[in-house]
Amino acid sequence: MKLFSSVKDVTDVNQLVSEAIQLKANPFADEHLGKHKTLGLIFLNPSLRTRLSTQKAAMNLGMQVMVMNMDKEGWALETQDGIIMNGTTVEHIREAAGVMGEYCDIIGIRSFPGLKDRDEDYSELIFNKFVQFCGVPVVSLESATRHPLQSLADLITIEELKTTAKPRVVLTWAPHVKPLPQAVANSFAEWMNKADYDFVITHPAGYDLAPEFVGNAVVTNNQDEALAGADFVYVKNWSSYQDYGKILSDGEGWMMTNEKLKLTNNAGVMHCLPVRRGLELSHEILDGPNSLVLNQANNRVWAAQAVIKSMLKGS
Ligand code: CP
Repeated sequence: MKLFSSVKDVTDVNQLVSEAIQLKANPFADEHLGKHKTLGLIFLNPSLRTRLSTQKAAMNLGMQVMVMNMDKEGWALETQDGIIMNGTTVEHIREAAGVMGEYCDIIGIRSFPGLKDRDEDYSELIFNKFVQFCGVPVVSLESATRHPLQSLADLITIEELKTTAKPRVVLTWAPHVKPLPQAVANSFAEWMNKADYDFVITHPAGYDLAPEFVGNAVVTNNQDEALAGADFVYVKNWSSYQDYGKILSDGEGWMMTNEKLKLTNNAGVMHCLPVRRGLELSHEILDGPNSLVLNQANNRVWAAQAVIKSMLKGS
């Protein structure tokens, strides 16, 4: 694998999940693979889980890891081609990405959307330019439209815990005080469609995801109807795709609670974290037996390790 930015970059998803589960059972089986190899992790936005889990995954494979918080420590990047750089940007992404590629065997990059210009965000301008100019394999650590390492970890979590071949999986919108990207929801939908589960998306009117991500999911604005019989409930806020980057309402009544859990098939409740307690998800669920958030966070290591291993092997 040379690029991990979407489920479309994976030849065999089942095989990748199986690989991750094997690595979880035997984390150091491939520690020779990464000897004298360097992973560079480039962050243009904050992170806890992605940074630490990917670093741990690389160390399990015997790699050296360099982390750069580009937004705070790097030069201001220019992404437009052909312009005269007489403004605030200091270094062009062509040189910056190329230089990092000289120092690293694999690069991971996180680049959130601006949530102002939908066409620009959905063109993945920064991520794609980085891929184009760095010259080494690239792992997305969350781009403007997708968070594939999170989605792979989520899929691993469901595969480990499901009790039927085709569980009912519900992605439910949750309230938030800030406009958030659609990336986690888009990506989760993309991977759930690939897994061929009984997949339902529920959100208030105006929060439809882009059709390319909705795929074959059933979509409803009736949350209770969606939750009925659910085996897994994935809670996540996202801002509007249609009225791009906007919060359309306070979302009152959309927070997942124990009362709503009664509608489900004693569902496992998932969230990628960080989570706003008492706003997106109730304290009682997060502190209760149905919460799978730490399972998901744990599986971020094995998801990253399976992807990096595949890149090291060049397979
Ligand atoms: N879920 C996730 O990506 O967490 P971080 O933003 O903390 O990396």
